Amino acid sequence: MAGVLRCPQCESGYPIIDGLPILVTDPARFLSDQLVYTLLPQDWPVELQGWLSGALAQSGWFPTMQRHLSTYGWDHYGGNAGAAAGVADAQPGGVLACLDAGLDGIHSLPKGAVLDAGCACGRATFALAERTDALVLGLDVSIPLLRLAQQALREGRVTYPLRDIGNSFNIQTVAVPLLRRDSVDFWVADIHHPPFLPASFACLAALNLLDCLADPLQALRAMREISTDGGLTVLSIPYDWGEAATPMGKWIGGSKGDVPPDCAPESVLRKYITELGWHVLNDVPRHPWRLRIHRRSTVCYDSHVLLLSGSMAFLR
Ligand SMILES: C[S@@+](CC[C@H](N)C(=O)[O-])C[C@H]1O[C@@H](n2cnc3c(N)ncnc32)[C@H](O)[C@@H]1O
Repeated sequence: MAGVLRCPQCESGYPIIDGLPILVTDPARFLSDQLVYTLLPQDWPVELQGWLSGALAQSGWFPTMQRHLSTYGWDHYGGNAGAAAGVADAQPGGVLACLDAGLDGIHSLPKGAVLDAGCACGRATFALAERTDALVLGLDVSIPLLRLAQQALREGRVTYPLRDIGNSFNIQTVAVPLLRRDSVDFWVADIHHPPFLPASFACLAALNLLDCLADPLQALRAMREISTDGGLTVLSIPYDWGEAATPMGKWIGGSKGDVPPDCAPESVLRKYITELGWHVLNDVPRHPWRLRIHRRSTVCYDSHVLLLSGSMAFLR
């Protein structure tokens, strides 16, 4: 649960905090930015959470963290919106539906370890574990979301703030009777620099991740390298580009005012996929991915879902 991993060659240390190994290229810098998240208690009084969310600037770290926990906590684990439920409330399970759309027609995953990159609070990681006998790892850079995933793993329940409206939240505690928890773990790591040897994973999922990254093409290259040739990769992407996450020069399509068909994001992504030696097994151009923002607001994206393999063996 806590300690330091040491590289046997260079002796660099990688801390483990709250059961999360921090396997990024510069763990000291990462932790000095993120330490506050590791110090927060998870089961804390509602009054204290209410005070913090009212007292701190709404653009600051605490309300932003609560909104992320609310949106992904709800989508991954649901809960009871109770009297707060509105007609605009999204049903939970959006990420699971993206995964199912990508794996449509695949009855068993190829043998070998599985990675859920950008796993957030981990529901798809557990769903992947139910489809394989192998080890399954969820990887993300968000400590608050990973701590929720860890709570599901260790305690079989999650506690998170569900946003009602404004900065008013209702604490949800949801039991999560997930199977195969012994085979699952969650690590802090950056998909641009995944801490794995080539061909480490027989199955890899990157659901709604690429448009949250500083360099999506570099991440695609890294994912291709750590995937086995005979393995499967599920991508889901709503192409929701924004400069807060991705500099415009790194967007996959959609950065020119006038978009000729071969510069459309879907075409550019397919071109990169082919150049990286992947074959497209499933291509779902528009798959709805709904995320609850608050009880009167749901965002619905049209995600592009793809199933890829480095080998032709799966082609039907
Ligand atoms: C839009 S959310 C999608 C989460 C989840 N896959 C789902 O579909 O519900 C994107 C996730 O990617 C994570 N992320 C952002 N940059 C990352 C990086 N460089 N490496 C790994 N994960 C990252 C975020 O913390 C967030 O949890």
